[in-house]
Amino acid sequence: MKDIFDECQLGDLKLNSRIVRTGTWETETEEGGFLTPAIYDRYEKIASSGTGLIVSEIFALDHKDRFFEYSTNMNYRGFMKDYQMVTDIVHKYNVPILGQLAFFYYDDGDNQKVEANEIQLEGIRKLQAEVVMAAKKFSFAGFDGIQINMGNNFYLARFMNPYFNQRDDKYGGSTENRVRISSEIIKVIKSTMDMHVSCRINPWDVRKGGITADESIAIAKELENAGADSIQLTARTISYLYDGKEKHPFLVYVDDLIDAIDIPVILGGNSRDMKSMNDILNHSEVEFMSMSKPFVAQADFLADWKANGEGVSICQSCNNCYSKKKSTCFKY
Ligand SMILES: Cc1cc2nc3c(=O)[nH]c(=O)nc-3n(C[C@H](O)[C@H](O)[C@H](O)COP(=O)(O)O)c2cc1C
Repeated sequence: MKDIFDECQLGDLKLNSRIVRTGTWETETEEGGFLTPAIYDRYEKIASSGTGLIVSEIFALDHKDRFFEYSTNMNYRGFMKDYQMVTDIVHKYNVPILGQLAFFYYDDGDNQKVEANEIQLEGIRKLQAEVVMAAKKFSFAGFDGIQINMGNNFYLARFMNPYFNQRDDKYGGSTENRVRISSEIIKVIKSTMDMHVSCRINPWDVRKGGITADESIAIAKELENAGADSIQLTARTISYLYDGKEKHPFLVYVDDLIDAIDIPVILGGNSRDMKSMNDILNHSEVEFMSMSKPFVAQADFLADWKANGEGVSICQSCNNCYSKKKSTCFKY
């Protein structure tokens, strides 16, 4: 029998449980952009209460990016000091942490919003170099790895999507070609630093002519072949698709994905109670599950679940935290 609190291994990372606190905006910095004591406190509560792995909030590449206002920037003066403190705090509890990089737009130097069809080879190389540099900075700050968000509607998700990418060079056309921009980044990171590389991808796309579930599995294989260490599923519509009463929508697809690749897969979205999470673990091949909003509602709720052997999050899924782009629960 699998249990969310099993100690386990996620690729090269040793986890205290199967639960991943997934990427969650903070948007609560002091003047000058430095982290507040409340943020350190939150990381400590999350790490000390039974979480297996933490993914940071989004770090943007560029201060003009779409979510920059809510995300954090790894180029601010205090980044190294602040995040060394964050990684030290969570490592005290033997919890690994990944820095999440996600960008919606890309500025190639000529065009702040250059899209997949327009970006030239020099722009692709600049983008790849910036992502590799971000991984290096995360490693200096003590992160155990990087999670590159190539899901939702972020730049690399659009780049690998035939709906957006009609290039006729080696970065367009086949799945391999559309994923190449990301595969090459992963190969460089894996061959030059000791960092876990996790890729957050979409299991499908709602657009006609976009990614199908079969192609998403082919994308995951490409990423695995390039050296990715884990895959996390995401989807913009997940909160609306799943009301918790029916089978998790990703479950129709996730076992096929897990069978097709040899790296761990993290399933997430709308998990709110221990019993149904354990049901999913024991009625599928899923081994890792992620949560975000329950940690916003109560950062250390897992301690109660662990002590009681059961539990239901107080999160009502009102989504106000998401709408306001804050790690603050507006209900409690
Ligand atoms: C306040 C808030 C901030 C979020 N910030 C991020 C983020 O920085 N990066 C990311 O990939 N997803 C982010 N998300 C999406 C979550 O990671 C997650 O996919 C989504 O909330 C569904 O999971 P849940 O039902 O467990 O909340 C955020 C969600 C919320 C509610």
